[in-house]
Amino acid sequence: MHQAVRGMRDILPADTWRWSHLERKLFQRLTGASYSEIRLPLMEFTELFARGVGEATDIVEKEMYTLSDRDGLSISLRPEGTASCVRALEEHGLLYNKTCRTFYSGPMFRYEKPQKGRYRQFYQMGVEAFGFGGPDIEAELVLLITRYFEEIGLNQYLKLEINTLGSHEDRGRYREALVSYLTPFYRELDEDSQRRLLTNPLRILDSKVEKIRDIVSNAPKLIEFVGAHAREHFERFQELLFEMNLSFELNDRLVRGLDYYTNTVFEWVTEELGSQGAVCAGGRYDGLVEQLGGKSTPAVGLAMGLDRIVLLHEKFQGDTGRPSLDIYICILDESKMDRAFFLREVLSDRLPTITIRVHMGGGNLKKQLKRADASGAGWAILHGAEESDEKQLVLKDLRGEKGQMLVSVDELIGTICSA
Ligand code: HAM
Repeated sequence: MHQAVRGMRDILPADTWRWSHLERKLFQRLTGASYSEIRLPLMEFTELFARGVGEATDIVEKEMYTLSDRDGLSISLRPEGTASCVRALEEHGLLYNKTCRTFYSGPMFRYEKPQKGRYRQFYQMGVEAFGFGGPDIEAELVLLITRYFEEIGLNQYLKLEINTLGSHEDRGRYREALVSYLTPFYRELDEDSQRRLLTNPLRILDSKVEKIRDIVSNAPKLIEFVGAHAREHFERFQELLFEMNLSFELNDRLVRGLDYYTNTVFEWVTEELGSQGAVCAGGRYDGLVEQLGGKSTPAVGLAMGLDRIVLLHEKFQGDTGRPSLDIYICILDESKMDRAFFLREVLSDRLPTITIRVHMGGGNLKKQLKRADASGAGWAILHGAEESDEKQLVLKDLRGEKGQMLVSVDELIGTICSA
């Protein structure tokens, strides 16, 4: 038998409801706040990610699925959505002197070591806002996402951490100071950190290795290099969060693994998923549009790992949100199959949100009722039963005390709605 590629999973029919439920809830919330969806290609020129995400990041250095197409062009499966989003909006002239609030959802690809909560094909829901330079938009994003986590019953398992990286220049100065501090420890660093010292030293700050954490604990602090303007911005952001009663913690080790961030960065983390604790992350990236060839445009955004949200929802919310099967239509007279289908259409038109399954495969009433019971449906209609006709249907209560009754379509709808 064939198997799925390592790190790439099937999401089976019995499980997809959770994914769409969690996606739908976020989409509704974002749409309600005037964000519009953007749909982006799964592949882009490799160059876009190299320039956008950063040559020295783990993602670009070792995690991309890159291939050369039949014209010899290097293209990659997208490892994230922000660079594509900027590319698309810029390509269509939607950023120049305009603001834009948008969101997307879909698979991303990174060649990482698969484990629970970490996959090679994973799913992100991303939100990006362009043209807003102030901390108000950051506060809006935090508010929307916090309310979303509350709505899906996960907020109590998540903690919001925030930090500021300062301006591009602040970060540059800090980088130099950090390298001077760490260089004398070079031999004590692990291989990853030694490599990062040359390519991306800030990433050493969020190393999980105990010894590195010790070394780093005495390193110069990023905040001391952050200029007055960036500090003010960050303070106002915190004030807004306070005013809205949104809880957060400062984490001065939070630096993010992608190169495009400046100023505010944030991450929602959980202790419930082992080592894959980051559930939603993002920040401001005022330099990216220009970096990719556009006019300087302030921007901020985030992406949440849907796979991880699904794991948490499964763990703490069980079947909450699972759509139920409402009615099972048993077929007692196969010559009236067409009427059974029409009946379903009539009922679906009147009650668009209910789910109705028409029995197939024959069998006596006992067998069909067994199926109806196993299906989880609350009600059965015994279509074609002797006592029924065009106007009167036999409805059977499969879960409650109501038993079997002869009802008109109107009465049937009334009964089901009031149950
Ligand atoms: P990121 O931190 O690389 O940021 O990814 C965001 C989230 O995607 C992570 O917090 C995690 O939940 C999920 N994620 C990442 N890699 C995996 C994986 N291999 N398996 C499962 N889940 C994963 C970004 O991608 C930025 N584009 C976020 C952003 C948008 N910043 C500004 N706008």
